[in-house]
Amino acid sequence: MHHRIRFIGLKESHVEIKLSNGTMLPIEMHKVRIVQKTRLAPIAERLLAIEEGGYNTFLLRTRDVFIDMLTDSGTNAMSDNQLASMMVSDDAYAGGESYYKMLAAVKDILGFEYCVPAHQGRAAEHILAKMFVKQGDVIPMNYHFTTTKAHFELAGGKVLEIYTDEALKTQSDVQFKGNLDLDKFAAVIKKYGREKISFVRMEATTNLIGGQPFSLANLKDVRRMASAAGIPVVIDCSLISENAYFIKRREPAYADASIASIVREMMAQADLIYLSGRKSACVRGGLIATNNPEYFEQLKAWLPLFEGFITYGGMSSKEIEAMAVGIREMVDIDVASSSPDLIAYFVNSRVKHGIPAVTPPGGLAGHVDAQRFVPHVPQSGYQAGALTSAMYIVSGVRGMERGTISMDRDAAGNDVFSDMELCRLAVPRRVYTVSHIDYVVDRLEWLYKHRNLIGGLKFIHEPPVLRFFTGKLQPIDNWGAKLAEAFVAEFGPNG
Ligand SMILES: Cc1ncc(COP(=O)(O)O)c(C=O)c1O
Repeated sequence: MHHRIRFIGLKESHVEIKLSNGTMLPIEMHKVRIVQKTRLAPIAERLLAIEEGGYNTFLLRTRDVFIDMLTDSGTNAMSDNQLASMMVSDDAYAGGESYYKMLAAVKDILGFEYCVPAHQGRAAEHILAKMFVKQGDVIPMNYHFTTTKAHFELAGGKVLEIYTDEALKTQSDVQFKGNLDLDKFAAVIKKYGREKISFVRMEATTNLIGGQPFSLANLKDVRRMASAAGIPVVIDCSLISENAYFIKRREPAYADASIASIVREMMAQADLIYLSGRKSACVRGGLIATNNPEYFEQLKAWLPLFEGFITYGGMSSKEIEAMAVGIREMVDIDVASSSPDLIAYFVNSRVKHGIPAVTPPGGLAGHVDAQRFVPHVPQSGYQAGALTSAMYIVSGVRGMERGTISMDRDAAGNDVFSDMELCRLAVPRRVYTVSHIDYVVDRLEWLYKHRNLIGGLKFIHEPPVLRFFTGKLQPIDNWGAKLAEAFVAEFGPNG
């Protein structure tokens, strides 16, 4: 078969494989040695499961899920070296050797002298809120993340999203939709001044607007402007290796740079970074790192109260060991590219079939634009939530609503309509294969042809904060059952 396949060598031994029919194949650069069995429940069971779960995919059980695209958070495949490292961890309450291995990895790869673990990304955000955010402050950023906004606003701050005009266009050719708008940033600095700005936050591959990266040129401009005004720069590095990979692929000045050197250059622009280790680092944990000794003093003060002593910070020592390995591995181009390349294949296959997708393809997930998919459903009927539930019914694929349900109500009790209504189909690293993706595309195509069967949702149980996690909804006019009927008519009860 080799003569049918063309290898185009990239630097760092990354290969791109082009089939003879022109298709770019996102080939897996790893072998599968441990597997987890999965099951496609018949559609009648799927309908029952989503009804019991209140049309909220967070409330499904794994046994009812065939392909789990809820999130890439804590669900990535670990490497053999990560698993092996967990066998030798040091459980000491204080001074554990596992911590020092993580610290060494943070120094080598990210270039920071000081680092503390936290049990996950939102825990790091909680600590940052304690350190930096005062009542009446503003926190400018390229886009918010749910837990970020909740923590900073709970501390009395206000999140200012100063993305570029292109950021919210779901169909676009702009390669860095995660850039901060520099004119808006200048206006924010002028209006609020250093005193009222806690810090500027850059999120690597902005989760809620389709995993879109920022460029290194933009980050450097942000750094220059922030430094001139004395404002700290904080980078949310949860998806740092993916953002670095996009910089390599999309920013000509870095085409020949290694992922490791791009990550180092990104880190050099930050006063402090934090991350959810559940993503790029493929573990369950988080961390905060800095070169500023004053920040480190504050971290040492707050961490033991909320997370645990500074050498374990609420993480299991096994996960700390695996994080030390994961941080080193995430700058391997085969790891950094694994999910973006499969996502590009996923998104491009959908675009070919006319299924509304967020373009260009980003990191973490292939996003479906619900506003274009189900335009007949009003935003008040929670388009993204309806589409996500419908997709589960017809395929057993569990995605996540990223739209108005993911926004909490305003003080007057009104829905806050989201900028985008997305059904997020996450692609955890090294977990699913091309055939899984082909199946998802096929079922999306069927659903798109039958989109008129999808209706709206209404809340029947609604928690006041982060309602998307455990809120329950109902389909208006029982459309879920009708959709299942149409599916059975074509594929039979076991399809
Ligand atoms: C960009 C970003 N920041 C912060 C978080 C919160 O991290 P965690 O889920 O580990 O609390 C996430 C989680 O998805 C994220 O994507």
